[in-house]
Amino acid sequence: MHVIRITDLEADGLSDYARLTDVALRRVTEPEGGLYIAESTKVITRALAAGHVPRSVLLQEKWLADVEPLLADFPDVPVFVGEAKLLEQLTGYHLHRGALAAMHRPENPSVAELLKDARRVVILEDIVDHTNVGAIFRSSAGLGVDAVLVTPRCADPLYRRSVRVSMGTVLQVPWARLPEWDEATALLHDAGFEIAALALADDAVSLPDYAADAPERIALVFGSEGDGLSRTALAAADTVVTIPMLHGVDSLNVASASAVVAYALRVDREHRSADLD
Ligand SMILES: C[S@@+](CC[C@H](N)C(=O)[O-])C[C@H]1O[C@@H](n2cnc3c(N)ncnc32)[C@H](O)[C@@H]1O
Repeated sequence: MHVIRITDLEADGLSDYARLTDVALRRVTEPEGGLYIAESTKVITRALAAGHVPRSVLLQEKWLADVEPLLADFPDVPVFVGEAKLLEQLTGYHLHRGALAAMHRPENPSVAELLKDARRVVILEDIVDHTNVGAIFRSSAGLGVDAVLVTPRCADPLYRRSVRVSMGTVLQVPWARLPEWDEATALLHDAGFEIAALALADDAVSLPDYAADAPERIALVFGSEGDGLSRTALAAADTVVTIPMLHGVDSLNVASASAVVAYALRVDREHRSADLD
């Protein structure tokens, strides 16, 4: 293991960890710099299992033994070790979860590739909150969604908080960024998908009715926390589906809505494998 003990913040590579709590800054620097941050030994383990490659690791001395076996295949990757105060000065927060790893951001599959064998995909339109993005990946993984597609302005699934809230499932569920709606619609229709917008509308089909006769391939589109779906997304949809609400509650949080819908429209996996035989 290539351990570098640091007493200041001058070493090459440390800038990957600068101001991790500054979302506006990290939103730009991480994708443009081709990196993302894996936080905690558990997430680093998942990232490595997914075939992702570390650029470096940052930790306090006490976590070194936990990380050593993980890096057996990466003897040249710098492992920066420093005092808690120094690391906090660099990152902007106290690293109570143990190690951080700066990872090379893997290339996403193309949208067409993702759609090829999928039957249920979730589309996130301009979701702002990284917690919601992470939670949606987690339920998508657990409820059998084949892929997640995010619109050009949707929050980054690989931002530290999304990765953490997703319990690492953003490293597991295939995902890609969509082009703008006109191009995205064509890609989805060409792959045989019905586009179902999830929205609150009087003339929408209720989820139980839709699930009773669900199409073979569905792209489920969810809107942002404040305004919901854009007019363009609604215009691109073949169907508008609504989850009936009780007790005067007008809507669900988007992550809750996605879990309800994914469960209602889940594909019978045994049936599916029989189909494919
Ligand atoms: C918090 S809601 C946005 C509420 C927004 N005021 C609206 O009118 O759409 C975020 C997203 O969750 C989904 N959603 C939440 N509750 C829903 C429901 N009862 N039926 C269908 N979709 C729902 C929609 O995709 C919505 O865009």
